[in-house]
Amino acid sequence: MSGHEFQHHFAESGGVDLSDRATNLNEKAYGELRELASRYPQPRSALLPMLHLVQSYDGRVSAAGVEACAEILGISAAQVSGVATFYTMYHRKPAGKHHIGVCTTALCAVMGGDAVLDAVEAKLGVSAGAVTADGKFSLERVECNAACDFAPVMMVNWEYFDQMTPQKAAQLLDDLAAGKQVQSPRGATVTSWQEAERVLAGFPDGRADEGPSAGPASLAGLGDLKPGEIPTGVPAAKKRAPRKKPAAEPAAQATAAAVKAEPAAKPAPRKRTAAPKAETAAKPAPRKRAAKKQEEK
Ligand code: FES
Repeated sequence: MSGHEFQHHFAESGGVDLSDRATNLNEKAYGELRELASRYPQPRSALLPMLHLVQSYDGRVSAAGVEACAEILGISAAQVSGVATFYTMYHRKPAGKHHIGVCTTALCAVMGGDAVLDAVEAKLGVSAGAVTADGKFSLERVECNAACDFAPVMMVNWEYFDQMTPQKAAQLLDDLAAGKQVQSPRGATVTSWQEAERVLAGFPDGRADEGPSAGPASLAGLGDLKPGEIPTGVPAAKKRAPRKKPAAEPAAQATAAAVKAEPAAKPAPRKRTAAPKAETAAKPAPRKRAAKKQEEK
């Protein structure tokens, strides 16, 4: 072992366990799966939302779910399984009631993401990739959540929790365990992972507008836009004060003033280096051999 071997952090590997026949899919679920397939010109485009819907019923991508998707879309179970095992948002083992994600990618890491993950692991008593014994929480180390402006971030059922600290994370887990109502600072009230999966499948729960659509750090750049240029639904950001020019050094100021005062010198006309066209090229000297022949005659 050199210490540089590749290590993956994915909790699961291998295919969907087709021998596990437990499922909650019922007639309503099959109807909703068919409805999703009918929303797309190419039905197989619906596979991703269909797998989210399977997870909302079964808490994982179940064998029955794979077979249902394959049958409705007219593709093979292997093709469905190939998609379900490619994306990390699809679970082959049941997730907890609340699925916790802690970002430890570069920016969150330097802002304390690893310390947050350590604190969550200690609080839950499980490592990333595992589920607590009571089934209340599953934990995942996640890659960048596109919320770097609020690093380090933590997700609960895919709702953001910004600028986390080990203390804030521990308090959040206590509140969730106690069944308290928790709201994301930039999103909806936290429900459960399976309910969130249903929303991801394309069946809204009416909570989309509960929180602000963006926070001040994401809106900072909009301060320079005129009201008509701000996308609808986004609150106007505070206008930024114009930047002050840094004061130049005295020597640099004097040089700049001198340069300004002196008119720019015109470049001297180029000298023509080529010979004038009128001059004819010199004739080559007669060959010596020819001259010698003439002498012999
Ligand atoms: S690095 Fe964590 S959200 Fe981007």
